[in-house]
Amino acid sequence: MKEVYNIAIDGPAGAGKSTIARSVAEKLHFVYVDTGAMYRAMALHFLRMGISPADEVAIFKAAKDVKVTISYENGEQQVILNGENVSGLIRTGEVSDMASATSVYLPVREKLVELQKELARNESVIMDGRDIGTCVLPEADLKIYLTASSKVRAKRRFAQLKENQGQYTLEDIEKDIIERDSRDMNRENSPLRQAEDAVLLDSSDMTKKEVEDRILELFLERKKEG
Ligand code: DC
Repeated sequence: MKEVYNIAIDGPAGAGKSTIARSVAEKLHFVYVDTGAMYRAMALHFLRMGISPADEVAIFKAAKDVKVTISYENGEQQVILNGENVSGLIRTGEVSDMASATSVYLPVREKLVELQKELARNESVIMDGRDIGTCVLPEADLKIYLTASSKVRAKRRFAQLKENQGQYTLEDIEKDIIERDSRDMNRENSPLRQAEDAVLLDSSDMTKKEVEDRILELFLERKKEG
């Protein structure tokens, strides 16, 4: 019997990938790998250095020199940027936009994809992102493409951003999500798309538990098929 299993979850912003992946990982005793956090940590570095996302040369050099790794504290992924734990600093709108804008560049992707492949090599992981099923883990045992309508995704994000609600309207959030999706789907390098062998789950009318149960069921079926 196989010892190491990989589950890939891709999909647009706000589809609930991380919430679902985290709880499926807990149930299966897999490691949850949030790849978006790695692109966010790189983006934070570029922001701190004052680099414009349009400045390819500066981005390429900074991406080459920077060190992004992850570690786990009480089962929670921490992202480490040049030795500093930046997990609490990467969930801002500014970092989200910078991560989307700079993840188009090959040197940024290559560095992080290598780390992601390495993490999945010796351990059972459930990994979420945009290119996991198509590029990082093409041989994954199960691939899920998790999506929901932009309205539903914006509503969920709005609910998550409770403290900042005064600052952003639901319309602002939906507009931002649509812009980010369009950039993530239309870039040249590893664009967001459903892998041919991925199972499509539209969670617009599903509860978190329903999505979770469906993924667990699909995984157990695949495992049995061997
Ligand atoms: O999943 P997230 O919102 O934390 O990701 C932030 C950005 O990082 C996203 O807009 C695109 C990029 N990203 C990527 O290009 N590939 C991944 N596997 C994960 C994220």
